Order: sequence, then C-alpha cells, then structure tokens
Amino acid sequence: MSILENIAAYWKPEPIMPTPKMNSMPDLTTPSGSATTSAPVELQSASVAETRQLGELLGRLLASGDLILLRGNLGAGKTAFTQGVACGLGITAPVNSPTFTVLKEYAGRLPLYHFDLYRIEGPGELFDLGFEDYFLGAGVSIVEWAERGATDDATAAWPNDWLRVTFTTTGPDTRLLRCDAVGERGRALLAAFACAAEDDQRKAG
Ligand SMILES: Nc1ncnc2c1ncn2[C@@H]1O[C@H](COP(=O)(O)OP(=O)(O)OP(=O)(O)O)[C@@H](O)[C@H]1O
Ligand SMILES: [Mg+2]
Repeated sequence: MSILENIAAYWKPEPIMPTPKMNSMPDLTTPSGSATTSAPVELQSASVAETRQLGELLGRLLASGDLILLRGNLGAGKTAFTQGVACGLGITAPVNSPTFTVLKEYAGRLPLYHFDLYRIEGPGELFDLGFEDYFLGAGVSIVEWAERGATDDATAAWPNDWLRVTFTTTGPDTRLLRCDAVGERGRALLAAFACAAEDDQRKAG
C-alpha cells in the first residue's frame, strides 16, 4: 500500500473534543536500578485531534536542544503529533512529513528541525549528510522513523538524551503512544509531559 493510500485508509473527520487518557505502566524492558532511563508512560489517543493536542502539550514544554524521537508504522500518527508540537512552539506554517528531503526547518519560539528517516540507509547516512550538527544546535529536533537513524545508542547521530514516543495503531481512530526517555533532560521532559497530559485529561472531564 502506498503512503497516500495508507493515509487515505486511515483518514476520518476530526471529533471536536480531544480527551487523552493516560496510564502509567511498570517498565518491563529496562534493567532495574538504571540511573538514566525513565519508566515508560502510556497515553491513549482516540482521534487525530487528540494526537495533535498531545503534541501541542509537549511543544509548549520544549527548550533549546531538546530531542524527540518518534517510532511507529506508516500512518501511525507521527506527523500528526509533530504538527501539534509545531503548534506548541508557535509555528504557523503547514507541517508535513519531509520523506523526500529528510529534513525541514521551521521558525517558531525555537527553531524546529523535523526529520523523516524513512528513506535513509542507516545512521552513517546522517553523518554523511552532516545532520548530526542539528542535534547539538539551539533548536528542537523531532525525528520520524528514529529507528532507522540508530541501530543502538552508540551508533546514533544524536546525543543520548531524548524523549521517545512509540506509536501503535490500535484501531482506525485509536493510537497508543508509549513514551520513554533517556538522560537527565529527557526524563525531566517526560515527567512534565505526563503531568500536562494528565492535567489536560482532568480538565476535559
Ligand atoms: N488517533 C489518531 N492519531 C493520529 N492519527 C490518526 C488517529 N486516528 C486516525 N488517524 C489518521 O492516521 C493518519 C496518521 O498520519 P500521519 O501522517 O500522522 O502518520 P505517520 O506516522 O507520520 O506516517 P508516515 O510514516 O507515513 O510518515 C492520518 O490520516 C490521521 O487522520
Ligand atoms: Mg509522517
């Protein structure tokens, strides 16, 4: 199935009231006693609007140098989430997957570097393109298909301090967002994001 067919297959009109639901879950994948890895947090989205809203909550919390890694299949919601992040950074330009250009830059409260690594061969290509400089810059980097940019932490083109969101399609309109983080800033960001999502859910009733 092509990307466009995939998106068309998933497209549904947006409901008006986003109401994300949040659960904490025990970390079953990280060795106990790890000093740098956070326990994962699971968020539920029942619509593309909710996914964008979650992205916007995160976007409002972002600071210079932050790195957000996104994983998940075609049409899982990575770009929808990024659109929300951009909104939270005050970016008004339309945001789409930079599948063919790998990187698009946007000007907002902070610069946003939006990567889509779907077509790259591996981390070496990111180094060849000189893209690792972006991850050390003053802007915020958000990376779709992050799993293609690093075979493990040692080969990644980015520093080992990030917040990661793994998207799973659980139904035509529903997505599970599993969030984890590494590094001091990544873990602080995840804690703040989880609080903001919980707060938002409470306000939505
Ligand atoms: N709860 C939801 N959250 C996000 N998207 C949803 C949801 N429900 C349905 N959708 C639909 O799923 C599609 C998600 O597309 P999106 O481009 O964000 O995916 P993607 O993960 O970036 O895919 P790609 O890997 O092709 O870049 C959209 O068509 C959107 O309307
Ligand atoms: Mg995308």
